[in-house]
Amino acid sequence: MMLPEWLSLNRRTFVAGATATTALTTAPFGGALPSLARTTDLPAGGTSDVTFEVNGEARSVTVDTRTTLLDTLREHLNLTGTKKGCDHGHCGACTVLVNGTRINACLSLAVMHEGDSVTTIEGLGTPDDMHPMQAAFVKHDGFQCGYCTPGQICSAVAILDEVGRGVPSHVTDDLTAPVALTNIELRERMSGNICRCGAYSNIAEAITEVAGGQG
Ligand code: FES
Ligand code: FES
Repeated sequence: MMLPEWLSLNRRTFVAGATATTALTTAPFGGALPSLARTTDLPAGGTSDVTFEVNGEARSVTVDTRTTLLDTLREHLNLTGTKKGCDHGHCGACTVLVNGTRINACLSLAVMHEGDSVTTIEGLGTPDDMHPMQAAFVKHDGFQCGYCTPGQICSAVAILDEVGRGVPSHVTDDLTAPVALTNIELRERMSGNICRCGAYSNIAEAITEVAGGQG
């Protein structure tokens, strides 16, 4: 059967690529890799100074411009309360507050935050002087392994602020009425924070209690 010209070109490209891949994967361990293996090298990154406020303190760091806010907090500022789960924006473990708004720190570069105010779990409270949301999580057993907990608590603090400001969510029916933190609203707003231990019911109870205390 005659193949159209565009398809036969693609077949030739595919065969050439497959041959090169085979050559790479079958090269003896001691042999020098062909130059094709080096074409994916990343260019050297530049560095940049960033000055921002972290948990109420002015901090300056020099980072590779490709460094995420999450890695900057953990690796450069030793604030390891913020957790790295997926590193891809899927789990919410890295949630922090930037100028009062929650973000996934793994999806944000440090250099984007010059002059910003960042709050991590360490900035909300301490074991001796807990934020009401931290205290409620303890009271309601809102965690098991605790890995997701810093992100859950930062998100929880932010959603109470969102609701207070009338910011609608995907499940808000009436965009003209004041927003109420119903169970469905709470679960929708917290849906970006995954808990592999499944402590969701207790987390919801903790947040509801704090929300009630604020109402
Ligand atoms: S580590 Fe950032 S969302 Fe999972
Ligand atoms: S308490 Fe273990 S992941 Fe949430």
